[in-house]
Amino acid sequence: MRLQGKVALITGGARGLGQAMAELFANEGCKVIAADMGDLSYTHENVEGVQLNVTDVEGCKSVYDYVVNKYGKIDILVNNAGITRDAMTRKMTDDMWDLVVDVNLKGVFNLTRHVGPHMQANGGGSIINISSIVGVYGNIGQANYAATKAGVIGLSKTWAKEFAMKGGNVRVNAIAPGYVMTDILKTVPQELLDKFASWTMLGRLGQPEEIAKAALFLASDDASYVTGHVLEVNGGMRL
Ligand SMILES: NC(=O)c1ccc[n+]([C@@H]2O[C@H](COP(=O)([O-])OP(=O)(O)OC[C@H]3O[C@@H](n4cnc5c(N)ncnc54)[C@H](O)[C@@H]3O)[C@@H](O)[C@H]2O)c1
Repeated sequence: MRLQGKVALITGGARGLGQAMAELFANEGCKVIAADMGDLSYTHENVEGVQLNVTDVEGCKSVYDYVVNKYGKIDILVNNAGITRDAMTRKMTDDMWDLVVDVNLKGVFNLTRHVGPHMQANGGGSIINISSIVGVYGNIGQANYAATKAGVIGLSKTWAKEFAMKGGNVRVNAIAPGYVMTDILKTVPQELLDKFASWTMLGRLGQPEEIAKAALFLASDDASYVTGHVLEVNGGMRL
């Protein structure tokens, strides 16, 4: 019960990594609000699903207001919602660029601009931004995605400073997962997935629960002196 009495808001919490984090946090006694464009693909007594497109500026404010009014506070924010629209740079359209930037980067800002100051005023909290191995090392065919995931690291380091001011006690960290089997990898050919697995030191892709356990550490008081950090959870992979 490492998150007993805590309230967590997790974007993209309907499936994939967001689901794994929501369920693990909920099992640890946390009340979880899973905000997603889609319906929850699971049920858990401690998880409430709310509809949200993180690109919707007003919608983010409404969800923030709803959670604070209903639960009184937000202790943990996981900015997890993310998408890919892959293409080599010469073939990347404006729409592919704009959509990925809007969801993966602006979407993180849209919620955190409310939740960060709330935590700061409320005596503390933990914000976890889900970056990617691609944001750390870059990747062919993912210029838009890499730019957003590197941007999320910059946001994390900036907010670690900003929201800790005046005794704010808000910790902000990023997790950079390697390749983990979820729907986001559906369009990646199997031979490429096999190659990615062979590039890890452990010789395999990750499981969503392995990312969730890293997030649990950063969300909990076990990480009370960890902030401004990028935690790579990738089986020892280098791209
Ligand atoms: N799976 C991996 O290998 C991997 C690796 C590195 C980073 N990541 C990152 O982890 C995060 C989660 O990815 P995943 O693998 O679980 O993907 P996924 O596609 O399985 O799940 C993503 C979730 O985000 C939601 N979502 C998408 N756009 C949204 C929006 N605009 N507003 C609200 N919700 C939205 C989807 O409905 C879905 O429930 C993403 O940010 C992704 O970039 C994943």
